[in-house]
Amino acid sequence: LHPYEINQDGHLTIGGLDTVELAKKYGTPLFVYDVNKIRENARAFVRTFKEQNVKAQVAYASKAFSSIAMIQVAKQEGLSLDVVSQGELYTALEAGFPVEKIHMHGNNKSLEEISMAVEHNIGCIVVDNFYEIDLLAHVLKEHGKEMDVLIRVTPGVEAHTHDYILTGNEDSKFGFDLANGQADQALQKLLQIDEIHVKGLHCHIGSQIFETDGFTMAIEKLFSALKSLKERHGFESEVLNVGGGFGIKYIEEDKPLPLEDYVTSLIDTIRNQVKVYDMTFPEIWIEPGRSIVGDAGITLYSVGSIKEIPNVRKYVSIDGGMTDNLRPALYDAKYHAVVANNVNGSEKEEISLAGKCCESGDMLIWDIELPKVDQNDMIAVLSTGAYGYSMSNHYNRFPKAAVVFVEDGKDKLVIKRESFEDMVKNDLSYEEE
Ligand code: LLP
Repeated sequence: LHPYEINQDGHLTIGGLDTVELAKKYGTPLFVYDVNKIRENARAFVRTFKEQNVKAQVAYASKAFSSIAMIQVAKQEGLSLDVVSQGELYTALEAGFPVEKIHMHGNNKSLEEISMAVEHNIGCIVVDNFYEIDLLAHVLKEHGKEMDVLIRVTPGVEAHTHDYILTGNEDSKFGFDLANGQADQALQKLLQIDEIHVKGLHCHIGSQIFETDGFTMAIEKLFSALKSLKERHGFESEVLNVGGGFGIKYIEEDKPLPLEDYVTSLIDTIRNQVKVYDMTFPEIWIEPGRSIVGDAGITLYSVGSIKEIPNVRKYVSIDGGMTDNLRPALYDAKYHAVVANNVNGSEKEEISLAGKCCESGDMLIWDIELPKVDQNDMIAVLSTGAYGYSMSNHYNRFPKAAVVFVEDGKDKLVIKRESFEDMVKNDLSYEEE
């Protein structure tokens, strides 16, 4: 958990600012990011590669939290950017992100997405399937352009994480299988297209991974594949992209490694494999999303109704829920919370934190011990910076929350709260005018 601080009023602070004041100023639910923490996380990755003299690209996986302000911070930190849709690419372009450092992903990239990527000369497309190779070749010929690509392969490694967010095993919708020769066929096909330059291989074995073994195993599989690709096609991987997935701490029991240790382990494994197979050391690319923004963000809520079922449970309802944080409902994800206006309150009780959607499953946290709360107290759910706002939705027609960035003692609104007009702006009337 990002260690938080408490001011003399007993209020939670973020980036030195009083969360109670922020909630008063911007309303709740409210996402607040400590921009310094985002920078610290990004720098931990970049610095470790530098210290080890390894040429690398750290691409922020913008799916974790995409907004113009966030992409600008990624730009300021010299990161590259991973986008998976026209919407994410559009946001990056609006943010003025350098196009040559944008990589595009997706298991079903459309003609429009590929065309947009090609028209804007983005740095690299991570090719996922045979259909896409044909589309890309067609678009490149039509535009008279060239493109660097990576081949996404599934190394058949299961990382320790929740089933729903596993993307690296063989039975996956993503990428080319290594086991049955698909990657080999894809390379063969790509090498015949003049407009395409194959820079290397890509894999992503999952998300919220704590141990390094999964990455090590995946890299070993990649190198054994590279050996055969070299023998069969004379191909050498200039770049090895090992994806993202580095875990963060949501609750006390979570034990991720320091970010530097993941990088060091990746480098060590690759150094070792390069030796074993007598290959040239590739440029290493990674794509962290969660580990850059996750512990930098919190969500502030106001307490409303409280229902006590004697000897069973006390439900404390807040003014958000699965519309701004889908992860507990979708993945059974666990979070920690504090009472923002009374963090160290001495009178404690066990409560369950309920969202306000019309659905019993809309519970943010079950059975957490907190200082006793009442109406209008404020709850902060911690480490909500990744896949919170980005997965927020309009269920029950709740407008999306606002997002505030805090840095150097100043707060700045970076995404406005949605209005009811926003909510119906694409609705058309079905009555006679
Ligand atoms: N690269 C690729 C190809 C990915 O598919 C992903 C995440 C990442 C990088 C970034 O992974 P990260 O460093 O953030 O773990 N919505 C889920 C997570 C889905 C992750 C999908 N891919 C959640 O809320 O836990």
